[in-house]
Amino acid sequence: MADKQLETRLVNAGRCKKYTLGAVNSVIQRASSLVFETVEAKKHATRNRANGELFYGRRGTLTHFSLQEAMCELEGGAGCALFPCGAAAVANTILAFVKQGDRVLMTNTAYEPSQDFCTKVLARLGVTTGWFDPLAGADIVRHLRPNTRVVFLESPGSLTMEVHDVPAIVAAVRSVAPEAVIMIDNTWAAGVLFKALDFGIDISIQAGTKYLIGHSDAMVGTAVANARCWEQLRENAYLMGQMLDADTAYLTSRGLRTLGLRLRQHHESSLKVAEWLNDHPLVARVNHPALPGSKGHEFWKRDFTGSSGLFSFVLHQRLTDEQLSALLDHFSLFSMAYSWGGYESLILASQPEQIAEIRPEGKPDFSGTLIRLHIGLENVDDLIADLDAGFARLG
Ligand SMILES: Cc1ncc(COP(=O)(O)O)c(C=O)c1O
Repeated sequence: MADKQLETRLVNAGRCKKYTLGAVNSVIQRASSLVFETVEAKKHATRNRANGELFYGRRGTLTHFSLQEAMCELEGGAGCALFPCGAAAVANTILAFVKQGDRVLMTNTAYEPSQDFCTKVLARLGVTTGWFDPLAGADIVRHLRPNTRVVFLESPGSLTMEVHDVPAIVAAVRSVAPEAVIMIDNTWAAGVLFKALDFGIDISIQAGTKYLIGHSDAMVGTAVANARCWEQLRENAYLMGQMLDADTAYLTSRGLRTLGLRLRQHHESSLKVAEWLNDHPLVARVNHPALPGSKGHEFWKRDFTGSSGLFSFVLHQRLTDEQLSALLDHFSLFSMAYSWGGYESLILASQPEQIAEIRPEGKPDFSGTLIRLHIGLENVDDLIADLDAGFARLG
């Protein structure tokens, strides 16, 4: 399937007969115990327990193997570790590669709980964290120390949506710290709009909770690793007891089948809303990677093959609490909720000082209220009308 287009690969990845047993979809094989019929079969399963052989529930069943194979095919990895949510994928993937005395270098625009994992959990284990500006590019070398073991990217950045110059970052890290493991939270791109491993990144992590699941009804984390990192990631995740139930693995694979179509619509609709906002007199700035002028847009254009539905914009004004309620409490289509990537549209607001709190060694360069939108699969003109009515409520 490697020679086929993305949509075709999404429909077919992981659907070979040994996993579907003749149906269209993979089987849902729920199991803790797997039965060995002979002593020789048990020996064989033990020898191959990490390589797609049925051995023990925590190592996965046919349902998991099908999803893992699909993710490896789609993201170009040697192996895919599965986790019960995105936060578990981030924490365990970092943890797999650090020991006391090591340092993690993380973008200061990383998802807040990823930052907190470093400052609250890793710190207790004697692992320190440094921060870099998401637009640092080759200048990231200034932050590398002899003990930097993990470089953690997230592109675009949480809330403010800056896109990294990944080739410049990877080249700079490799020239100074070739042993460092470079990983990325690749959730926004659903692992397929930005092929992280093709850019020299070692591990691509996703909160599959968002676009892979796509329906806001289940949680999953994935980490696709290259050959250099796969064994260490796999064995550490296994020892940390990280696994996913078979039903959610099945739902994740099912999500892949419509992902191409959904992403295309998220791209088209979110860009249309972004362009509408860009011309709106109340709006100071639109942070949408696919919109010219957005920070790192040139890197998105060069390195990504599309956009998803999450972006933000900044108002000229810092809204009062009353204005926030007037705007946010009365939408008919946009809901307020944290997790994104489903078929539905979402809205959340952050004040600049709240953003400042989650930008270690950096500060926001705006003073108005930031609004984050997830543009879902509703009719885009209906969404624009809903936003327009919201702005009218600001008076
Ligand atoms: C960029 C990013 N990474 C990771 C996560 C964590 O994913 P989960 O909610 O599945 O733990 C989120 C959740 O919002 C996220 O936005």
